[in-house]
Amino acid sequence: MAGILERYRKFYDFGDDFPIISLEEGNTPLIPAKKVADAVMQKSGKKGIRVFLKFEGLNPTGSFKDRGMTYAVSQAVAQGHTHIICASTGNTSAAAAAYGARAGLKTLIILPGGKVALGKLSQAILYGASIVEIDGNFDQALDIVRDLGATGKVCIVNSINPYRLQGQKTGAFEVCDALGEAPDDLYIPVGNAGNITAYWIGFKEYADKDITRKRPRMNGYEAEGSAAIVLKRKIEKPETLATAIRIGNPASWQAAEAARDESGGRIDSVTDDEIVAAYQFLAANEGVFCEPSSAASVAGLLKASELDQVKDNATIVCVLTGNGLKDPDSAIKFGNPERAQLPADSAQVAEFFKL
Ligand code: F0G
Repeated sequence: MAGILERYRKFYDFGDDFPIISLEEGNTPLIPAKKVADAVMQKSGKKGIRVFLKFEGLNPTGSFKDRGMTYAVSQAVAQGHTHIICASTGNTSAAAAAYGARAGLKTLIILPGGKVALGKLSQAILYGASIVEIDGNFDQALDIVRDLGATGKVCIVNSINPYRLQGQKTGAFEVCDALGEAPDDLYIPVGNAGNITAYWIGFKEYADKDITRKRPRMNGYEAEGSAAIVLKRKIEKPETLATAIRIGNPASWQAAEAARDESGGRIDSVTDDEIVAAYQFLAANEGVFCEPSSAASVAGLLKASELDQVKDNATIVCVLTGNGLKDPDSAIKFGNPERAQLPADSAQVAEFFKL
């Protein structure tokens, strides 16, 4: 299966000689989630709800960032850049490092020190990126990237690069292609607010081209400790265990508000406890292992169910943005602790399993 730029080529205006750098990203599954739907109906008292999980953790580097990075890095090559740079809470850097390696570019990465999940950091290291961990948060790292980008020596591949969002809009295309129509509601985690903006671009484009008849309500969820859009102010010291969305000054803030308002959706926040509960629920009941930040979408849906914000017969899609393997420490911390180390002895093992 070709990557997103080839599959959706007619939605782009690049020519035949455009140097596509691809890892065959996209084409991720839209998984029916009956247990989540049951929980929504039980909490809300509504009927006929269908829930699907757009599992973006199955992209080549394990997150949705690959959709945007294929386009941003291809453009960097087309423009003759030798260096790409990004700030990241982890996933953007993993994707940049992978596509940068494939393109033969030097990838420069700035991370919030001590706040990047182990899997993401290990990816960037093995892909061969040059990495600086700052004594500061993502927002400060992005400020440095903007400064260095202004020198003209490096190409910024954060989502302030418009090609990123133009690539990520294909997530919305795939959801519509799989359902045969746009969903009624999209639930999505919000960090730097690029992805909610990109999905809205995609849904609008499909509706404008009459491929779909409707557009979904866009429902974005920030983590409570970094809920700048909800609180209508920058958060100087964002805090959440959902480190991927630990962002206090989202770059696409206004575009995300526009997506919310144009679609009749909402941007709300979920607590770390709600995020962890959804993270555990998805793994233990649906067999889907996403990273904690990704579970903010499902946590948001469960919260909305309790607040009577879901409608009868709604088709709902929750975007699961990243793979659970990115963050093994959280899995071990919040997973089922029923484990034992025993001698190689059948009787003792049987006893532990209560067989
Ligand atoms: N989920 C995951 C797993 C992420 O890595 C991110 C963002 C988001 C959700 C939020 O998406 O920023 O478009 O609103 N991660 C960025 C990074 C910031 O550096 O990897 P957003």
